[in-house]
Amino acid sequence: MALNALIIGGRGMLGIDLAAALEGDAAFDQVIVADLPECDITDEDALREFVLSLSADVIFNCAAFTNVDGCETQRNLAFAVNGTGAGNLAAVAAEADAHLIHLSTDFVFDGTKATPYEEGDPTSPVSAYGESKLEGERLVQERGDRWTIARTAWLYGRHGRNFVDTMLRLGRERDSVQGVTDQIGCPTWTCDLSAALVALAKAGAQGVFHTVNAGSCSRLEQIGYIFDMAGVECSVEGVGSSAFPRPAKVPANSTLSILKLGKEVGHEMPAWQDALTRYLSVL
Ligand SMILES: NC(=O)c1ccc[n+]([C@@H]2O[C@H](COP(=O)([O-])OP(=O)(O)OC[C@H]3O[C@@H](n4cnc5c(N)ncnc54)[C@H](OP(=O)(O)O)[C@@H]3O)[C@@H](O)[C@H]2O)c1
Repeated sequence: MALNALIIGGRGMLGIDLAAALEGDAAFDQVIVADLPECDITDEDALREFVLSLSADVIFNCAAFTNVDGCETQRNLAFAVNGTGAGNLAAVAAEADAHLIHLSTDFVFDGTKATPYEEGDPTSPVSAYGESKLEGERLVQERGDRWTIARTAWLYGRHGRNFVDTMLRLGRERDSVQGVTDQIGCPTWTCDLSAALVALAKAGAQGVFHTVNAGSCSRLEQIGYIFDMAGVECSVEGVGSSAFPRPAKVPANSTLSILKLGKEVGHEMPAWQDALTRYLSVL
């Protein structure tokens, strides 16, 4: 039987690519996209009325306050959207008997582990954004019924501001740029993430899953790869993150293990280099 999907935060960078992935998959019948202003996850009563008026089998929560530095000064808003809002949607999804797939982040970890983080590793966020997203995870588990938490990282895609596009622009404007060597993570293309979210939904997989492109790199390595693939002639100098002071602290090494996704859902994520190559070819 075909599934009806509802994407909240559906006009953001991930939401737009996720809608396209669902629309292209025969397992899904109707794909409804909702976002601010018509659907605000911080308004529980209005959210309930909105969601219960639809007959969604799967609800994807892509809605979030994603300005990491902004969360430091707007903690209340960060917790209202990323924490309470996520919990509201989990409760409403349970009332609607829908499977909730909620997006979370590598920033729930402190980045001090030497090996890739697994789903059950202790969390210890180092920023207000990470704390608010962790609160969202807690409330989804507390208030939800059938839920999946999909942690992702270092996203880029065609429909939002992102690091890859920024570096491409800077590389074309300048002779040299600086790249940080002491931040390691998993660059992830929104299209590959969308395929993983579709696989989780179709499998009805519940629990916490890491959903990132395979492998990891520093920002310096990522920039070097982008310039090589795009034929940008710009030199890249490696620097420490202290060269770019910012309000929010970020984890030093937030590499996520994706073994569980492969083992339990049978979904393999392409390598980050492969994803970047395909992204650059469709720009
Ligand atoms: N981007 C990354 O590198 C990254 C990394 C790890 C995890 N994630 C997670 O992945 C998910 C998708 O991220 P993204 O990059 O696609 O984010 P995005 O482009 O900022 O999209 C988020 C969407 O949520 C909407 N929104 C904000 N507050 C809302 C509210 N109260 N009710 C309903 N919708 C609301 C936003 O609307 P407005 O634009 O009008 O505010 C926007 O359309 C988020 O959960 C994020 O935390 C992202």
